Amino acid sequence: MFTSTVGAPISARTPDQLAACYTHITVTPASPHIGAEITDIDLTRELTAEQITEVKDAFVRYQVLFFRDQKISFDDHIRFASLFGTLGRHAGAQTISKPTDHPLVRKFHYDETSQRISGESWHSDQSCAPFPPLGSMLYNHTVPPDGGGDTMFASTYAAFDALSDRMMAYLSGLTATHDGSRVFGPGTPKSSHPVIIRHPESGRRGIFVNWDFTSHINELPRNESDAVLKFLYRHIGRDEWACRFRWRPHSIAFWDNRCAQHKALWDYWPNVRSGFRVQIEGAAPPVAG
Ligand code: SIN
Repeated sequence: MFTSTVGAPISARTPDQLAACYTHITVTPASPHIGAEITDIDLTRELTAEQITEVKDAFVRYQVLFFRDQKISFDDHIRFASLFGTLGRHAGAQTISKPTDHPLVRKFHYDETSQRISGESWHSDQSCAPFPPLGSMLYNHTVPPDGGGDTMFASTYAAFDALSDRMMAYLSGLTATHDGSRVFGPGTPKSSHPVIIRHPESGRRGIFVNWDFTSHINELPRNESDAVLKFLYRHIGRDEWACRFRWRPHSIAFWDNRCAQHKALWDYWPNVRSGFRVQIEGAAPPVAG
């Protein structure tokens, strides 16, 4: 009989032992499987080499990092994000986000005139691209006054780890089509990626299909593909490996698109939520796990 396990948390160490790993920043886990808030850091200034090493370590370990009270400019945003790779442009033809006067920064602004927002279903950003982005860094300077507009994050590692051995074996070797036209309309890329991928830095395996972009699993008949994807979407979105980020003005969320999915909650109309986002290019296509 299969015994369901939610899997080991990110670290078996105690919070005190974990905090001791980081001596140049403070890292506070947001949940057992995903997310950490980083404090004792000022992103309006150049970071020290030690801080950079520790933030990079925390990013790989926690999959999404949160920062508070950071009144960053476009230059600060770009300087910090560029530590993780080359900044890239959005793959979407028609997106809800808008360009700014800087080609690498997009504006994510919602108010009483908004009909919808970006990213309301679980997804990883632009998985339709041949090289999906490594990560995205969203800075919100303005958030609804009474709460709302939280972003949910889910660990696709923990979701993978909780599958049965038989399901892992069944999914391994399969590939899926990710179709940008489902979200961005015609003229956007369509790519195939492995259903189970291995993260290039952590070496951990995760599930790489998502509600927004994945149209079908290539090697299965359509009715079987639909049923498997439906199961996987519900499985990835389970509360056990999710965390919820409550925005405050001048907060930042920085997620790893290769092992975290996210969705934005639109529960704040007609209030304003406004900020800027940059994305870091993926250096390679996802590799089968
Ligand atoms: C998105 O996924 O496109 C936006 C995420 C957010 O606004 O929280």
